[in-house]
Parts: sequence; C-alpha cells; structure tokens
Amino acid sequence: MGISQQIEAVYQRALLLRQRATTSPVEPALLDEALRELYFVLEELQATDSDLQTQNQRLLDTQQQLDSERQRYRTLFELAPDGYLVTNCQGKIHKANLAAAALFAVPLVNLVNKPLIVFVEPADRPQFQARLANPEGLPDWEMMITQRQASSRAVAIATATIKGTRGQKTAILWSLRDIGRHKQMVQALNTAQTDLEHQIEARTAELSEAHDHLERSQRLDSLGTLASELAHDLRNAIGPLVTATDLLMLPKYDLAESAYPLVQMMKSSARRSTDLIDQLLMFVRGTEGTRVPLALGHALGEVVTIIRSTVPQTISVQSRLNDNDLAWVEAEPTPVHQVLMNLCLNACHAMTAGGTLSVAAETRQLDQGDPQLPAADPPGRYGVATVADTGCGIAPDIMERIFDPFFTTKAAGMGTGLGLATAFRIVQNHGGFMRVESQVGVGTQFEVFLPAIAAPATAAPAIGRSGKA
Ligand SMILES: Nc1ncnc2c1ncn2[C@@H]1O[C@H](COP(=O)(O)OP(=O)(O)OP(=O)(O)O)[C@@H](O)[C@H]1O
Ligand SMILES: [Mg+2]
Repeated sequence: MGISQQIEAVYQRALLLRQRATTSPVEPALLDEALRELYFVLEELQATDSDLQTQNQRLLDTQQQLDSERQRYRTLFELAPDGYLVTNCQGKIHKANLAAAALFAVPLVNLVNKPLIVFVEPADRPQFQARLANPEGLPDWEMMITQRQASSRAVAIATATIKGTRGQKTAILWSLRDIGRHKQMVQALNTAQTDLEHQIEARTAELSEAHDHLERSQRLDSLGTLASELAHDLRNAIGPLVTATDLLMLPKYDLAESAYPLVQMMKSSARRSTDLIDQLLMFVRGTEGTRVPLALGHALGEVVTIIRSTVPQTISVQSRLNDNDLAWVEAEPTPVHQVLMNLCLNACHAMTAGGTLSVAAETRQLDQGDPQLPAADPPGRYGVATVADTGCGIAPDIMERIFDPFFTTKAAGMGTGLGLATAFRIVQNHGGFMRVESQVGVGTQFEVFLPAIAAPATAAPAIGRSGKA
C-alpha cells in the first residue's frame, strides 16, 4: 500500500473515532482538537509524500541517464580506433577493446586476465615495469609489442591511474596507438622527398644543358649570317684573281720564266682562299639536299679507306664495322661523309707521335633518362658512328669551345676552326647530336648520333664523297 493510501486509511479511522466519541461521554471539543492536529499531521505527511515521489522520479531519470551514458562510454571504449586496456596495478588485463585485440592480433576474450607484459618486447620490459610502478609520472613513450605470428610493431603508449573513492590507486588505463603505419608513411614521405630532390637536380642539369645547347646554336646562327656575307664578298674579290693568274700563264702573255713560281704561288693562295670560302659556305648552309638511307658503317668504311692512304705509318687504323649492324640512318651522304672525315682528320692531327685511330658503327637504343641522351633529344634508336684516337686529348678548359666556329689550337694558317662547327651543324640539321669524351695525354672519342631507320630491303653501299677537316 502507498503512503497516500495509508494516510487516507488513518484519516478514515479518525473520522470513525470521532463518530463514536460523539455518541459516548467523551469531551467532543477535545476530540475535535485532536482530530484537527491529526489532520494537519496527515496533510504534512501527504506533502512529504508528494516531494518524495518527485525526488523518486528524478532519481529514476538520473539512473536512466547514467545507464545510457555508461552504454555510450562502453561503446566508445570498445569501438575506439586506438587500443585501450584496463589493468590492475600489477599489469593484469581486466578490460580491453577491439582495437587493442587487433594490435596484439589475438581474440578479445584471450586478452582478459593475461599479464600485459607478455605482449611487450623483451628489450622494452624494464621500461614497461617502470611505467607500471609510476603510470602518471612518466611522459608518453613508444614501445615495441610482439604480435602472434607476426613481426613486432611500434605503439605509442599513454597511461593514467584509475582511483577508488578514497583516492587510492585501483587500476591503470593504457592507451595504445599504432604508429607503425605512421612511421612507414614518414619513411615513404622521406624517400619521396629524396626522389623529388634528385628529379629536380636532374631536371635542372637537363635545363642547363639545353640552355647551353640553345646558346651554342644561337651563336652559330649569328656567326653563320656573318660568315655567309663574308664568303659572298670574298668570292667576288678572289674570283678575278684566280681567273687573272690562269690567264697570265697563257703563252700570249709571254710571262718571264722567273715569274712563274710567283704566279703559281698567287694561284695556289687564291685556290686555298676559295677552298676556305667553300668550307664557310658549307658551314653556313649546313644541309639542304636530298636525304637517302645511308649506312654509317659503309660511310665510315669509305672514309677510312681514304685516311689509310694518307696518314703516316706511325698511325694504325682499326675499324669495327659489322655487316649485321651497319647503323642505317636517313641522311645526305656528302655532308655526313664530311662530318666523319673531319673527325678522322682531327684524330690523326692529334696523334703527332703516332697512335691508333679506331672507328665503329652500331645502332643503339636510348631510353628516356639514358645518360647518353641530351635533354633536348627524343629517346629512340640511333645510328652511332664512333671515331676515337690515342692522341693528345682535349684540355677541359677548351672543351666548351671546340664546337665554336673558328676555334682552333692549330698554328696560324694550319686550321680554320670550322671542322667541328660544321660537323655540329650538319648533325644537328639531321636531328642528331654529338658526344665527346677526352682525357689529356690518353685520347679522345667523338660519337655521332643520328636517328636510326630500319635497314632497307636491298641495302647497297652508300656512295659519298669525302670532305676536309
Ligand atoms: N681528336 C681530337 N684530339 C684533340 N683535340 C681535338 C680533336 N678534335 C678537335 N680537337 C680540338 O678542337 C679544335 C677545333 O677543331 P676543328 O676541327 O673545329 O678545327 P681545326 O681542326 O683546328 O681546324 P680545321 O678543321 O680547319 O683543320 C682543334 O683545333 C683541336 O684543338
Ligand atoms: Mg678539324
């Protein structure tokens, strides 16, 4: 029976009493007073009861809130992305969440009641014991945990003490964060950064090479214009001289015998000058004729035949030309022969005390990033002609200038300095490039790269002429 029902029952009983009192000789006034007091008491009781009911309801509400909060925290604990464990003060696991079980790679039920230390790598156990003794006093730290049937992994640890109602230490809360992946990512990032730095370095080097290349081409272009005007004027000036010397030697001019050598000298000087003009023009024009399939192997073979008959005995000539790979390219035969002849003559001039001239032809595949491939040139197959000598070599300080027109180290009148400049221009016009390696006192190797083509079905030796370096 509820308290209000009880009060009601008391009240009814009191009324009954009063009825009986009025029928007996009891003093009714006194009874009335007693009844009033009783009534007040009952009313107070009723008020208290309603207060109690309100409080009771509040308590019930609070209880419900607490239950749902507890449920929420349980879910948060169980499903938290980091591992959470509660151990007693000796390190025995009381509670664990799913992430912790995943970190240790064991089913959740197998974690409970196990000493946590069994999952700690032996090397980290002294530190673990220190943390167990003093969970709050140590900064966060990393330790390696062992995983069943797997390699150990790094976790970041933070601990907190769980205290009882009197403030005594009752348990320890462990938070474990898997930082193995984080470490891997940091490592991957570092590797990517190093790669990027290398790429930037390589790209910068390529750009600077391309810039040098462009500068050289521009220099050649402006010198080319100048040379072309010069050649035109010189041809006009020397033409009559050549004709006049030829005419002077005709009988009708009755030239004195003693004057013949002088006129001959004039004539050969004039011829040398026109030769020089021809070379200048060749340099300026580069190539503008018809391109045909040309085997660099055949072209080198022809140049070597001419060279063999002209070089002194002190120079031996070796050619490595393979019928199976003649290095076919599409090119104008005459200028390409001139390039090869220039290189061979330079090589022979560099071997004043004798040595070996070696030539070779082959096809090479140059992929992107190949150190042989200049930044400005496309990857692909190239026909390569190599001319190497065991001569004086090229000093590093002049290496930059050897392709400049009119740059020569030969004595005045012995070289024009146009040989390599012309070769460079011809090769460039054919979509190719040249490489040079040299060591002073050891020798020099020039390589000519021209875009390769497949060998024609009926491959006949190319016919070409030689030029002068
Ligand atoms: N194989 C080589 N060995 C050493 N130095 C070389 C070689 N090839 C070229 N050189 C250097 O490069 C310079 C320029 O060569 P280039 O062929 O342009 O002109 P040159 O040979 O001096 O003159 P020309 O070609 O008119 O005879 C040469 O004077 C020489 O110093
Ligand atoms: Mg030369």
